[in-house]
Amino acid sequence: MGNIKITGTGRCLGEKVVSNDDIATIVETSDEWISSRTGIKERCISVDKNTSDLAAEAATKAIKNSGIDVLDLDLIIVATTTPDSFTPSTACLVQAKLGAKNAVAFDISAACSGFIYALNCASKFLDGIKFKKALVVGSEVLSRILDWEDRSTCVLFGDGAGAAVLEYTEENGIMDIYIGSDGSKGKCLSTGEFGIDNPFSVKERCSESKLDMAGKDVFKFAVNIIPYSVNKVLEDNSISLDEIKYIVPHQANYRIVESASKRLKLPMERFYINLDKYGNTSAASIPIALDEMNEKGMLNKGDKIVLVGFGGGLTWGAILLQW
Ligand code: COA
Repeated sequence: MGNIKITGTGRCLGEKVVSNDDIATIVETSDEWISSRTGIKERCISVDKNTSDLAAEAATKAIKNSGIDVLDLDLIIVATTTPDSFTPSTACLVQAKLGAKNAVAFDISAACSGFIYALNCASKFLDGIKFKKALVVGSEVLSRILDWEDRSTCVLFGDGAGAAVLEYTEENGIMDIYIGSDGSKGKCLSTGEFGIDNPFSVKERCSESKLDMAGKDVFKFAVNIIPYSVNKVLEDNSISLDEIKYIVPHQANYRIVESASKRLKLPMERFYINLDKYGNTSAASIPIALDEMNEKGMLNKGDKIVLVGFGGGLTWGAILLQW
């Protein structure tokens, strides 16, 4: 690797800003509880936009930011847990919305690690010959799968999309990617299984397709896997933490990042955090953060950063890249 670069970023959030006080009118909770346990103050909830709408808006901004022509896109990958439909894929819907008629489009499902998995996949496609430019989007309307009567989960998540344009270049870019999965722990963070419903089905297997989470187990997994993944990608490339300008973690919980900061012995200022405004937007959280950092001018050419994600599956992964 080393010749695939992110050349543009974009984001789009759910239209309605919902504060912790607003959530307290729906379930028995408080701003004090949510803020102190998670760091989340508000989240953006989609009122009218589906996953592909958010994705297409974020993508349009990323394409503009990169300066490429939409017709030059060879590949579109959307990472999502909450697709618009079983078929067509959200990526195909995005392709149609953008008019990116020369691209191949498909989805990836890896929950909150989805953007890391999708970047990995896109980077394998980009060969500089048949595939030169790719669009990778993380997009979610998580509000659709939340149980709005379960205060232990509905307070945590938000809706949004983040996008990145990737180009095959001669310059350094993505240096390495590490990803992992452990399907045996999938129940920690899951939605109910879809039922078997046909004239021949023998038993009812349908359950509510709402998000269910063993919060403490996921917390423990997260605080271990962040430092592990960051160290893995650095050690494999003989790069020290001192050389890394920022860690861009999946935005799940401030206390999770704080614990990772202690374990890595890296000050919190080196972690980019925006979960106070958006909550956990799953596959969208890392590209939304990247776009904010890009917009604020925090990323200069040559800066090394690490993106690190974790989530349902269980899945996790880290990307070492040079801006
Ligand atoms: N408001 C008020 N009280 C709440 C609440 C809410 N929104 N949610 C749970 N509680 C209550 C519980 O019912 C419990 O009450 P009890 O002691 O009377 O039974 C109490 O608060 C403590 O709950 P607990 O689950 O022990 O809280 P916690 O300190 O473990 O924090 C999480 C809960 C969800 C914030 C925490 O476990 C977490 O962040 N886990 C990781 C989740 C995550 O990031 N998932 C996505 C990963 S991609």
